Amino acid sequence: MKIDVLTIFPELFASFLENGIVFRARGKNLLDIQLHNIRDYTTDKHHQVDDYPFGGGAGMVMKPEPLYDAITSLMEGEKIPVIYFTPQGRLLNQDIVNRYKDKERIILLCGHYKEIDQRIRDMLVTDEISIGDYVLSGGEVPAMVMIDAVSRLVDGVIGDIESALTDSHQKGLLGVPHYTRPYRFLDRVVPEVLISGNHAEIDKWRDTKAKELTRERRPDLYYGKR
Ligand code: ADE
Repeated sequence: MKIDVLTIFPELFASFLENGIVFRARGKNLLDIQLHNIRDYTTDKHHQVDDYPFGGGAGMVMKPEPLYDAITSLMEGEKIPVIYFTPQGRLLNQDIVNRYKDKERIILLCGHYKEIDQRIRDMLVTDEISIGDYVLSGGEVPAMVMIDAVSRLVDGVIGDIESALTDSHQKGLLGVPHYTRPYRFLDRVVPEVLISGNHAEIDKWRDTKAKELTRERRPDLYYGKR
C-alpha cells in the first residue's frame, strides 16, 4: 500500500515513521509512505500556502493552487482516494479503517489554519474524516492516527493477524481484560478461568467480558449492533 501525505509540517512524521509497526511495515515493503511538503508546490517567492478569507473573519484559509498542483501531480490522472482531515468530517471508526486497508494507494491531506479552500474539497477530496469532536491545530495527528490504524491491518504487517482482529472494535465490541505473569501481583490474582487450560471456557469468559464492557461503556456500539 502506498500512502502519500500532503502537509506543511513533514518533520512531524519523522519519529512516527521510524518506530514500531509502521517502521517494520515500511522495512518489509508492505507500506510505502511518502511525505510531500505543500510549500514545495507554491510558485510565489514567499512560498505562501494560506491567505485571508473572502468575506472576512478570523483565521487564514489554505490556498487552492498549491493543493491542486500537489494532488493532481500525485494522481497522474488515476482515481486515488483523497482523504482530508477536518472536524467537519465523518467520525473515523474501525469500519472506515477496514475499507481503506485494501486500497493500493491513498492520499492524505493535512489542513492547517482555518480550513482549506472549499473548491479543493469540492473538486478533489473524496472523503472527509474527523478523529473526534474536538479541534486540533492541523491534520497531521489525524493522518498519523489513520496511517497507524490502517497499516496494522495490511496483510503481513503484524505477525499475528489474529491479535489485530480480536482487538477492540474489530468485532464491534470493546476488547477484554488481559493478564500476564506474575499470577499474583500486590495480592491480586489472575481470574482462574484463564489458567484453567479450558479454551472453550476461556473464549466464553472473554465473550461475556467484551459484551459487559461494551454495554457499560459504549451502549451506542452495543445496542447499535442489535
Ligand atoms: N483537524 C482539526 N481538528 C480535527 C479533527 N478533530 N479531526 C480531523 N482533523 C482535524
